[in-house]
Amino acid sequence: MLRIISLLALAWMLAVPVAAQEAPEDARASTGGAQTLEDILRRQEGISIDDSFRSEVTGNPEAAAATADQLGTLGGASDPDLWRAFRYGSADITTQARVPAATTLMQDGGMWWLEFRQGPLLTLAAILLGGTLVALGVFYFFRGPVMIDGEKTGRTIVRFEAFERFGHWLLASSFLLLGLTGLITLIGRKVLIPVFGHDSFSFLAVASKWVHNNVSWAFIVALVIVFVAWVVHNIPDRTDLNWLAKGGGLFGGGHPPAKKFNAGQKLIFWAVIILGGSISVSGLSLLFPFEFHIFGHTFSTLNQIGVLGWFGFGELPYPLQPQEEMQYAQLWHALVSLVLTAIIFAHIYLGSVGMEGAFDAMGKGEVEEQWAREHHSLWADEVLNAKEDPSEKGI
Ligand code: HEM
Repeated sequence: MLRIISLLALAWMLAVPVAAQEAPEDARASTGGAQTLEDILRRQEGISIDDSFRSEVTGNPEAAAATADQLGTLGGASDPDLWRAFRYGSADITTQARVPAATTLMQDGGMWWLEFRQGPLLTLAAILLGGTLVALGVFYFFRGPVMIDGEKTGRTIVRFEAFERFGHWLLASSFLLLGLTGLITLIGRKVLIPVFGHDSFSFLAVASKWVHNNVSWAFIVALVIVFVAWVVHNIPDRTDLNWLAKGGGLFGGGHPPAKKFNAGQKLIFWAVIILGGSISVSGLSLLFPFEFHIFGHTFSTLNQIGVLGWFGFGELPYPLQPQEEMQYAQLWHALVSLVLTAIIFAHIYLGSVGMEGAFDAMGKGEVEEQWAREHHSLWADEVLNAKEDPSEKGI
């Protein structure tokens, strides 16, 4: 008897969740085919639902729940049908607005973007930027600054001309301003509004947006100057392999020979050019909404090649709605900027407190001869030989 009761209890326990899952079906019948409270709750929790009961009944006003029903139509009987048609893109919409996104009135896909932007993206930003700062602090604590080992000569040699320094400082100042104002925009709603309130943040947000949009041009110009000025010195060669194998001498073992830029600096240079270039392009697509179709084209090309299939993934979404194009541009812009900012933190550390004599290179344009011999021995030899024999060129 006890066994039968336990079996019945078990069967009931198993049946209840199944019944709960199937509830939308039954409940839907009671709403005359309209969506139910369960559907809405499941959608809010991000659980995917089979919404064919809505998407496949557009264009038929008869499908709308009767006004007399509890969950029925509020206005004219055709209202729900019209909104469904809007949502699933089957409405014959005409509008006087001629902007590209005017005919997409509802974009369900925007929810995952909003949730990712307000959650995981902010966590990633904190880990990436905070983690890099902590790592640099720990490194400074244990290793200390890289000092000039040998005796200083009191003589200096020219490292960067005024034009190169102008390009560098334009790039640095614009990048720092863009990084700061971009971060304010990214974390504003979640972090700054709760602290400062809507009114104060509103001023900060408007100012940040203005600075960000206008300073972006300076960054693009500086990127071109720096590329033109230094690309010849950043072509990888055999000295880089030796430099990398010895960890740049950062952990002892003496300074490996290097030309004007060592392998570490070449990596920074190419990171700045490639990531900075990508940030510029995605930024331009945000600055001129709906004019670029970078992600749509890229996804379509990747799907044609089948790149994601190689790793066992399905196809990338294509075609993209105009808003989706902007959402991907925003995520890419923010992610790549965060990665480059973390790299630049390390660069700023080494160019200032992390290495004795390094800042002078960009500050005054000249470096102590001994510094040059230790950090860029091949380049120093070239410069000093050319000084002795002015007919030698190509520094
Ligand atoms: C205010 C912070 C910064 C300081 C103190 C700083 C310092 C320096 C110094 C001293 C050098 C010359 C290194 C040498 O003589 O070998 C240099 C080079 C360079 N800087 Fe900066 N910099 C800063 C910000 C930036 C930013 C924001 C960027 C790019 C977005 C950048 C990109 C570069 C590049 C590409 C080079 C040449 C390659 C290299 O030395 O790594 N710098 N910087």
